[in-house]
Amino acid sequence: MAQEGIFASSLLSPEVSAALPEGYTLRALRKSDYDSGFLDCLRVLTTVGDISKADFDQQYDHMATAGSYYVIIIEDTTKTERPVVGTGALIVERKFIHSLGAVGHIEDIAVAKDQQGKKLGLRIIQALDFVAEQVGCYKSILDCSETNEGFYVKCGFRRAGLQMAHYY
Ligand code: ACO
Repeated sequence: MAQEGIFASSLLSPEVSAALPEGYTLRALRKSDYDSGFLDCLRVLTTVGDISKADFDQQYDHMATAGSYYVIIIEDTTKTERPVVGTGALIVERKFIHSLGAVGHIEDIAVAKDQQGKKLGLRIIQALDFVAEQVGCYKSILDCSETNEGFYVKCGFRRAGLQMAHYY
């Protein structure tokens, strides 16, 4: 059967789905998410830019072909327009160290402003943790601002190391 989203639905945690508020569902990103509210969610996090449908599709295809991008969506199925209310991504990096181990990188966690405080952020992290374990990651890591440290501590993360960056 053709895969409907950017990753197989067998990687969606049944426990996390069951813990969502009534009417909310968990699923993989789809190409049709161009105008589902997905990009609006990301705008809560940072600049998204003015993306054409063609460019969105090209980026989606690139990620789907790579096979290491697990982009999760939470949607409120009772909303008739732009139902996506939260998103997050896990990117799996395969390594030569740790017996050919894999590390999960958690990126771009965003919950729509009017939906924050309903544990959706926590559910996104739990869903990504489930994927990471299922695909064989030995750890997941992320970068965040000091203001979000408390959220990630509540999600079970602990401060480790120091981030450095080169911007191009
Ligand atoms: N600091 C401390 N605690 C927090 C914070 C915070 N900034 N945000 C939430 N919490 C706590 C909540 O109070 C809750 O605690 P409780 O279990 O004691 O009640 C727990 O963390 C879970 O909170 P949720 O309701 O799941 O949080 P929410 O759905 O609002 O999502 C998020 C949190 C993702 C940070 C959201 O506020 C958001 O989208 N912010 C803007 C975008 C952003 O900063 N994203 C993270 C970028 S870092 C990255 O992507 C790797």
